[in-house]
Amino acid sequence: MLFDSLAKGLRKTIIAGNWKMNKTPSEAKELLEQIAPLVKDAECEVVACVPYVDLATAVEATKGTNIKIGAENCHWEEKGAYTGEISTGMLKEIGVEYVVIGHSERRQYFGETDETVNKRTKAALAAGLKPIVCVGELLWERECNITKEVIGRQIKLDLWDVSAEELKNVVIAYEPVWAIGTGKTATAEQAEEVCEYIRLCLKALYGFEAAQGVTIQYGGSMNDQNAKELLSKPNVDGGLIGGASLVAEKFAAIVAATASEY
Ligand code: 13P
Repeated sequence: MLFDSLAKGLRKTIIAGNWKMNKTPSEAKELLEQIAPLVKDAECEVVACVPYVDLATAVEATKGTNIKIGAENCHWEEKGAYTGEISTGMLKEIGVEYVVIGHSERRQYFGETDETVNKRTKAALAAGLKPIVCVGELLWERECNITKEVIGRQIKLDLWDVSAEELKNVVIAYEPVWAIGTGKTATAEQAEEVCEYIRLCLKALYGFEAAQGVTIQYGGSMNDQNAKELLSKPNVDGGLIGGASLVAEKFAAIVAATASEY
């Protein structure tokens, strides 16, 4: 195998919750206060990506803990007439560290394209945020056996003009669209196959060493029951968790599943 388990130890494992459109600020504070003691000894990076209005509360609530806060999107312009949008500068100023870019729900429901994903990714990097760039195939694309073409195209376009130096701050999340919120998880083998393919695409674009260093998460109905098997795969370096990230014990169990002695 080209990218083996040994190399995995060199990469940062990241378990990130994507709360989507859930939790008011007071509910966010409550959930984070429940999660914090449960994940304090985590061996991996722990991130909560929360709705815009929860961000300031979330940053405050996690001060002095090992939980990092992320946004769920950002705009590519620094400022201007973009009603309803949020800039990277606004996120940086309040202490946000990560930002989810190109989630399939944004691609499906809000007209996000690879071009806008690329613009947002570059803006996030320029501002010193760490983008979690989401890629994934639709069910019919998998059935038509074009998963790799779809993923390869997304990786190429979404990372267009991103330098090898900038790539060090990029996280890729492989989220097969058919597995999101459906309870239908990709098998560990399916997840590994595509995550390994993503690394091969990165190798073609940036070289072996750069590709070796990138954290690639799996997302799509990951939960406390299936996390360990998914995370045991050599190219699955973490998870982007939707539903299960809203329940403190479940999220903490996924974090615990990354521990070496688990
Ligand atoms: P679920 O874990 O609810 O399937 O959501 C996955 C996801 O979309 C994370 O970004």
